[in-house]
Formats: sequence, C-alpha cells, structure tokens
Amino acid sequence: PRKIIIDTDPGQDDAVAILLALASPELEVLALTAVAGNVPLDLTQRNARIISQIAGRTDLPVYAGCDRPLARPLVTAEHVHGKSGLDGIELFEPEMPLASGHAVDFIIDTLRREPAGTVTLVPIGPLTNIATAFQRAPDIVPRVQEIVLMGGAYFEVGNITPAAEFNIYVDPEAAKLVFASGAPLTVVPLDVTHKALTNRDWIETMRASGPIGRAVASWTDFFERYDREKYGSQGAPLHDPCTIGWLLRPELFSGRHINVEIETQGEFTLGMTVADWWRVTGREANAMFLRDIDRDGLFALLTERITALDAR
Ligand code: BDR
Ligand code: CA
Repeated sequence: PRKIIIDTDPGQDDAVAILLALASPELEVLALTAVAGNVPLDLTQRNARIISQIAGRTDLPVYAGCDRPLARPLVTAEHVHGKSGLDGIELFEPEMPLASGHAVDFIIDTLRREPAGTVTLVPIGPLTNIATAFQRAPDIVPRVQEIVLMGGAYFEVGNITPAAEFNIYVDPEAAKLVFASGAPLTVVPLDVTHKALTNRDWIETMRASGPIGRAVASWTDFFERYDREKYGSQGAPLHDPCTIGWLLRPELFSGRHINVEIETQGEFTLGMTVADWWRVTGREANAMFLRDIDRDGLFALLTERITALDAR
C-alpha cells in the first residue's frame, strides 16, 4: 500500500477523509498530524483522536503540530464547523493518548527514515506543519513522493474572502513555501470540491450503514446547514475527502499541470491561488491543479468504503 501522512485540522470533512483513507487497503496511514485551522490546535488534535477511536484505530499515532500560522494570527472557522470543530455527534474525551513528540519532527523523521519517494503527504488544513518541516529540514523535500492537498480556488470564488479559500488564506506564507518547494504537488481546489456535494439519499445510506456511517451522516447533517443557508446549495461540499478520492481513483478527476502562485501581498486577494490555467506567463508548472470531478463516482466510492469499514 501507498504510505501517507494526513495533516489535518478536523473538521467534519476532514473526518470523512480520514475514515475513507483508513477504510482503504491501497493506503497505509502512517499517522495523523494535527494543525491549527478550523479550530485551535488543542481541539484539532483531540478531534483527530476522536476520529481514530471511532474508526477503531487507537493504534494510529496522532501528533500535535503547529498552533499558529508562520507569520499571522490564527483565523478559525467555527461558523462552519461549530465550536468543537466536529459538531454533529456526541463528542467524548478520547481514551487514546496523543503521541509524544511534535508533528513536524514526526514528518521530518519519517521522510528521512522511509525510502525516498515512498511517502505521500496529504495536507487538508493550513500548510503550517508541512512548511515548517520543509524549512527546518530542506533535505526531506526531494524525498517526498507527492503532496496532495485540499486548498485554493480559481474559477470558483473563495470561501473565506472573495478571492481566497480557507486553508491557503489562514497561512499564505506556508502555502507559498510549499508551492515553491519543488515537491510534486496535486491541488484539490474549491473548483472541484464545490461539485462534491452530498445529497439526502447518500446521507441516509450512510446512516443505515452502522456506527461509523451514522457518525458520517450526523456530521454531514451539521455541515450541510452552513452551505444551505449561506449559498442555498443542496448538500455539503466534502472538500477534504476529494484528496483521498484522487489517490484512490485519479480517473474520477481532471485538471492541468500548470503554474500556481500564492498571493501573500494583495490588499484584497491575500491567500489567492493564482493559477495560470491558460499558460500565459511562461512560469514553470509546479502543480497539478484539478478542476473537475465525477461526483457520483466519488460518492459511490465513499459508500463502498464506509460500509465496508462498518462491516469489519
Ligand atoms: C477547507 O477548509 C476547512 O474548513 C475544510 O475542512 C477544508 O479543509 C475548505 O475550504
Ligand atoms: Ca480541513
């Protein structure tokens, strides 16, 4: 199986991404590394442990990482995810302890220990942990197999400002560093994830699947409210699961290998992912920027894997 580290700020959609990965024999999740994002770090690391426990994976190490962006105060998203970050289910204090050591050290040590080109990073929150690891240990960058991240928006407008998507906006300096690192990069922006909308049928299928599916259904019920009230959209965008979907079924997606730069100066455009879709700049391509998804294909995959996890 392909080895991955999921760097996360759970987040209901992070939770579904983590469950999809844990349900998939093609992937070996080495650890969850938590970062501050949707809610502060003390909650994201706790939420990551709650999710592991729900999946029956108390053996999975969960590390706490950076508690604030590289150069800015933390911006959070309780208005989307609720006060806990994981509203929707009855939350509990996880029994499984936090792994000792810092997430950034775990990322560095793992990339140095494993054979070069065999570990994929899957950041589904702000890029602070990844950027800090690259800054501290530049020798690990060429050892990364691929980075598959959820972040950015180009044809679709932003969701935290008119120009920017949340994960990139929260730590644009970190994003800039990661996009300039030279590591192979696949970007799953809002252009894709706003097409990955849940519907009632799928939520009810999840609810009928068993305890894990029930958690997914309750999270989605909660998560959906925001998008329905805010955008009038039918269903909730499952942003972060699209990264795992890409790893499992790349044929469900399409995009272009192009240059993408991160705006860190703009008066109105801070955190924008400036994607050279039409290749008008001559700047070197640094990312596979996805734009389309076979929505039904992704949800069929989610149904198959989550119900299998419940049947284990
Ligand atoms: C991203 O921001 C977070 O709120 C979600 O978990 C997702 O990673 C979407 O903009
Ligand atoms: Ca997230």
